[in-house]
Amino acid sequence: MPETRTLLLLPGDGIGPEVMAEVRRVIDWLARRRNLEFDLSEGLVGGAAIDAHGTPLADATMVEALAADAVLLGAVGGPKWDDLPFAIKPERGLLRLRKEMALFANLRPAMVFPALIGASTLRPEVVSGLDILIVRELTGGVYFGEPKGIETLPDGSRRGVNTQVYTTEEIRRVARVAFELAGRRRGHVCSVDKANVMESGVLWREEVQRLHDEVFPDVTLTHMYADNCAMQLVRHPSQFDVIVTDNLFGDMLSDEAAMLTGSLGMLPSASLGAADASGRRRALYEPVHGSAPDIAGKGLANPLAMLLSFAMCLRYSFALAAEAELLEAAVASVLDGGLRTADIMENGKARVSTRVMGEAVTAALGKLA
Ligand code: IPM
Ligand code: MG
Repeated sequence: MPETRTLLLLPGDGIGPEVMAEVRRVIDWLARRRNLEFDLSEGLVGGAAIDAHGTPLADATMVEALAADAVLLGAVGGPKWDDLPFAIKPERGLLRLRKEMALFANLRPAMVFPALIGASTLRPEVVSGLDILIVRELTGGVYFGEPKGIETLPDGSRRGVNTQVYTTEEIRRVARVAFELAGRRRGHVCSVDKANVMESGVLWREEVQRLHDEVFPDVTLTHMYADNCAMQLVRHPSQFDVIVTDNLFGDMLSDEAAMLTGSLGMLPSASLGAADASGRRRALYEPVHGSAPDIAGKGLANPLAMLLSFAMCLRYSFALAAEAELLEAAVASVLDGGLRTADIMENGKARVSTRVMGEAVTAALGKLA
């Protein structure tokens, strides 16, 4: 019996469906040429789900996501749904997936492909060789803390509240992922907080340090304030190996790190839950770039972040490290060959559409395999 690998595709909104179509091309290639079968299903999330079901994530889709070996998500959101009440906005669909699948560790690697050094807004010598892994806490902090809401005060003015909150266990489990990954990289973790201002940051720093001292003394641990980290990322990014940080700082710092690599269109991500007794982790893979409604449907989107997210899926959910590396090598070779989507376009390169980029990556798979 061939192993079954269940994969739920949630293309979502904006450029999500376009970039997901290019992943399907790679999945077809793996089935045809590598005899790797995926049991695919597709569902709706975000605005697409609101239009069909009146909710950004139907319960039936949530059940499917919980049962799948892995979920691939395109992007959610767009101006069409901006005026909806907060509780049913497209983004709530994504946040529900993260929360109910308990995907507390969000891995966002920012790597510069040599061919794209010139596409960064920073000088080549600053970004050359850049290889940072941001581990963002994803199911806690101010994104989910209670109390939250907007209330009207007796004088008619209003008050908006969100709560930054972390527990020992929430901090330790994400820090553990960061230390383990650092052990397989250059062995350095930088933990980022605002311990100079926030009690939750003091606790963050103490718990990360304690876990380090107890279990991971061989990893080098440093601490940095989040504002300083934002500055250091553009001043001297190659000082970082693994950065571990909370949900909100991780959201901001990962967009910043992505841009160092030339384009937000290049950055993949993996969101992982705890390993069960058999070692299986719930997992969701998505590009960091978002739905980009302004360019949706025009063939302008860069599918590489989505394809690199699928490479992470092959590696982390299906233990197909060789295929993951093959896909990453195919992306690198297409860039070396001079093909560029609009977001990474440079003088002298060939500007191509989403589909042509996806076809070129699939063709490169065939050549490299
Ligand atoms: C991200 C996005 C999401 C977030 C939005 C779409 C809810 O910005 O994945 O970085 O804030 O986490
Ligand atoms: Mg973000």
